[in-house]
Amino acid sequence: MAFSSRLRGALAVLLYLQFFFNLVLAQNETGVLPGFGDTVQVLGAMERTDQDFKDGLALDLFSPKNRTLTVKQNTSPLSAKFITGNSGEPFVALSNYSYIVQMNETANDLIAKIEIPYDVTMLNKVGVQEANTYVATMSSDKKSWVIDDATRNVHRSENNTRIIKMTSLDGEYMLVGRQTVDTSNIFVQYGQGATRTVNITGGPGIQEAEFIDGFRFSVQTNMSMTMNVDIKNGVNPGTLPANTQSLNSFMWIVNTSAPFNQINAQMLVPFNRNMLVAMKPAGSSPSTMLTVAKRALNATSGQFLPVNPGVQQVRELPEDRISIPAMNQLDGQYVVLVTEPKPVGETLPASNIVSPKRRRRMEHAV
Ligand SMILES: *[C@@H]1O[C@H](CO)[C@@H](O)[C@H](O)[C@H]1NC(C)=O
Ligand SMILES: *[C@@H]1O[C@H](CO)[C@@H](O)[C@H](O)[C@H]1NC(C)=O
Ligand SMILES: *[C@@H]1O[C@H](CO)[C@@H](O)[C@H](O)[C@H]1NC(C)=O
Ligand SMILES: *[C@@H]1O[C@H](CO)[C@@H](O)[C@H](O)[C@H]1NC(C)=O
Ligand SMILES: *[C@@H]1O[C@H](CO)[C@@H](O)[C@H](O)[C@H]1NC(C)=O
Ligand SMILES: *[C@@H]1O[C@H](CO)[C@@H](O)[C@H](O)[C@H]1NC(C)=O
Ligand SMILES: *[C@@H]1O[C@H](CO)[C@@H](O)[C@H](O)[C@H]1NC(C)=O
Ligand SMILES: *[C@@H]1O[C@H](CO)[C@@H](O)[C@H](O)[C@H]1NC(C)=O
Ligand SMILES: *[C@@H]1O[C@H](CO)[C@@H](O)[C@H](O)[C@H]1NC(C)=O
Repeated sequence: MAFSSRLRGALAVLLYLQFFFNLVLAQNETGVLPGFGDTVQVLGAMERTDQDFKDGLALDLFSPKNRTLTVKQNTSPLSAKFITGNSGEPFVALSNYSYIVQMNETANDLIAKIEIPYDVTMLNKVGVQEANTYVATMSSDKKSWVIDDATRNVHRSENNTRIIKMTSLDGEYMLVGRQTVDTSNIFVQYGQGATRTVNITGGPGIQEAEFIDGFRFSVQTNMSMTMNVDIKNGVNPGTLPANTQSLNSFMWIVNTSAPFNQINAQMLVPFNRNMLVAMKPAGSSPSTMLTVAKRALNATSGQFLPVNPGVQQVRELPEDRISIPAMNQLDGQYVVLVTEPKPVGETLPASNIVSPKRRRRMEHAV
């Protein structure tokens, strides 16, 4: 008897403690949410930590280890005009500050997401649709806000935008929006005219634009400028380097409003693999035979010469584009060169040498 009443007493204490604990938790869920600079406990053992902050930010994570995290506020973030990873313009910040999330130790083993709420009325005021809201992440070079459609998720039922599929949370984040009528990726059409003109804002950050075939530009310029790209059919074989031919029947003509302004840029030039295959049925991979060449914007008979030949890189499937980093000027005419295998008797580039046996095997494989 004495034993069971003691048990009942212990149970009562336990229940009371549990009640008290729930009360404290409930208070935290409503009233006293953490703010900037507060230390937040992250549960270990892959227990879910779903933490809301005072201003609406929410971090939701599973961590194998006990950890802590803090969120700081950056009140002078990089301008939202400088966006990479997506295309289209113009982007605007939907908040006056960014968030800097710091875990107390390196943590790349998380299942995490970050959510930032938006205000529908405010979006309407600045001309941003809900579908054009993004949580942007500061790039490692600190020169742009990166957005990635593959991990973006607009949660309209809760009025927030989030990044999912995260495995770490350390970084800087900001809510941004694109003021366009169209949603998702936006591509620029070739030609002249306002809607076919890319607007590049001067400043420390990088901006990107992509044309309808995948011709993509990443540009940092200290002076604002505009850019148009046109397609012109007809490439005179006599203007190409020896032992090369043009992959396409056309050239791209890039012109900017500030041709003599020094910039930092990268170009990604698309190539059509089917055309290459048609030209080189027994050839090797594109990376051994494609080069982008260029001549002056107003040239009519000048030679095309490889652009930054040492650093061009052919990105194979699924991308099929040639990257040219370290460009400091964009104006010009561009073609994609295909290196011709030399006639029999001359030394072939190693990659083009195919033994009869291997050639037979390759033909079977096709
Ligand atoms: C409630 O939130 C405060 C402020 O962030 C924090 O210091 C405290 O540890 C939290 N209490 C519980 C029980 O989680
Ligand atoms: C993690 O935290 C929980 C609760 O705060 C504690 O019970 C547990 O022992 C901790 N685990 C480790 C490995 O420190
Ligand atoms: C991070 O925080 C957790 C939980 O408080 C602690 O167990 C761990 O030792 C901390 N890590 C470092 C590197 O301080
Ligand atoms: C930024 O702050 C200003 C002044 O406090 C305010 O008028 C404006 O609405 C804020 N902008 C955003 C996007 O919150
Ligand atoms: C989302 O915003 C709309 C418009 O302001 C509002 O009517 C709705 O209740 C909000 N939904 C949630 C879940 O807060
Ligand atoms: C560049 O700005 C002009 C004028 O604001 C606009 O009409 C045009 O659509 C913009 N270009 C792109 C590609 O968005
Ligand atoms: C590019 O050239 C065309 C035709 O000469 C011209 O109309 C257009 O304004 C130029 N664009 C820029 C950005 O200079
Ligand atoms: C832009 O200006 C900064 C600061 O003056 C300079 O460091 C940078 O090299 C300039 N960028 C270009 C592309 O000239
Ligand atoms: C176009 O050609 C003329 C001379 O033929 C040259 O003076 C001028 O600088 C060239 N313009 C550009 C943008 O290359």
